Amino acid sequence: MKKTIKDYDLEGKKVIIRVDFNVPIKDGIITDDNRIVESLGTINYAIEHGAKVILMSHLGRIKDESDKLKNTLKPVSIRLAQLINKEVIFVEETRGAKLEEAINRLNNGDVLLMENTRFEDLNGKKESKNDPELGAYWASLGDLYINDAFGTAHRAHASNVGIASHLPNGVGFLIETELTEFAKVTNNPNRPYTVILGGSKVSDKIEVIKNLVNTADHILIGGGMMFTFLKAQGYEVGKSLLEEDYLDFCREMLEKYPNKIVLPADCVCGKELSNDTNIRSCQISDIHEDEMGLDVSLLTFNLFNSYIDKSKTIVWNGPIGAFEYEKFADGTKVLCDVLSQLTQKGVTTIIGGGDTAAAAIQFGHKNSFTHISTGGGASLELLAGKELPGISIIKDK
Ligand code: 3PG
Repeated sequence: MKKTIKDYDLEGKKVIIRVDFNVPIKDGIITDDNRIVESLGTINYAIEHGAKVILMSHLGRIKDESDKLKNTLKPVSIRLAQLINKEVIFVEETRGAKLEEAINRLNNGDVLLMENTRFEDLNGKKESKNDPELGAYWASLGDLYINDAFGTAHRAHASNVGIASHLPNGVGFLIETELTEFAKVTNNPNRPYTVILGGSKVSDKIEVIKNLVNTADHILIGGGMMFTFLKAQGYEVGKSLLEEDYLDFCREMLEKYPNKIVLPADCVCGKELSNDTNIRSCQISDIHEDEMGLDVSLLTFNLFNSYIDKSKTIVWNGPIGAFEYEKFADGTKVLCDVLSQLTQKGVTTIIGGGDTAAAAIQFGHKNSFTHISTGGGASLELLAGKELPGISIIKDK
């Protein structure tokens, strides 16, 4: 068990909380604030217990000066202030006198948000390469370090591993919940244990698939990645998404685990990825040369249901259709409905991956499942059976 924020006396302490505020922002507007909302438990606890709260987060990836403008955390500071109904002092620096003075002026219960940690990447990738001087400097700004950035826990960066190695530390409530919920599937899940994998690429999920074939009872494949599997099985997939380099891998998996890996029986096809294209449902053997498969259809649902219905634990990672387009959203919507009903009957349902979580929330299912993870890559690495450096660095109780 990891130490948590509850293991420390916070009164009057400068508490650095690493959060994952890497939220989608379009034209300065946050389009999905779930990660901010999910961080509130820890932030409010720190405020209520008299901490001087110093929040750090990255936002996007910073490769050149022009990335700074669209990746400032300023809009996040405004949203956070609304959510906690309290001033959030936003410091537009990631080091130096202005930041240090602002921290020294904090009173108990005040909240400060530092500018995007990855602004330090412009100068030799100091944040992302866990530069020792940067980690030590940030640690010098606080008395205690709490990691609550589950979405970033698979990275060994200065703002998580770096700072944590210099300060007393613990995890926040968001990470604690993520670990508890994922433990339900990584340690001895209630069986049958079924995993539904979607998303566009096989290449993103190779490590996960290699691990799941040993742990899950069934792996149902949907999303763009299904077409590389189907092609490996001998079907023509038209203009559908295909990763030629991964055909051999898919072939090997299908040969070794023919009863474990389940592929769709039909799909919804269009000539373009657009709401204006004409669509039709067809069997997998009938995809035309000029069509691409963009969602699953009825036959697949009946097939998938025959596994899902009997399952006691279900993990779903990756949308099973191009849900951002109304015409290809039905598969993902129906799956949300089905899993929601099963959750009510006591089945453990865990939804992971940024897009899948966004889809579930968009379709009105924020509270329908056992757990919706805030992690994309991090949740995949947990499912792949890997250790997360941002969590391993935190002391055990
Ligand atoms: C995420 O959104 O998966 C996390 O915030 C990590 O972001 P990254 O992939 O840019 O490191």
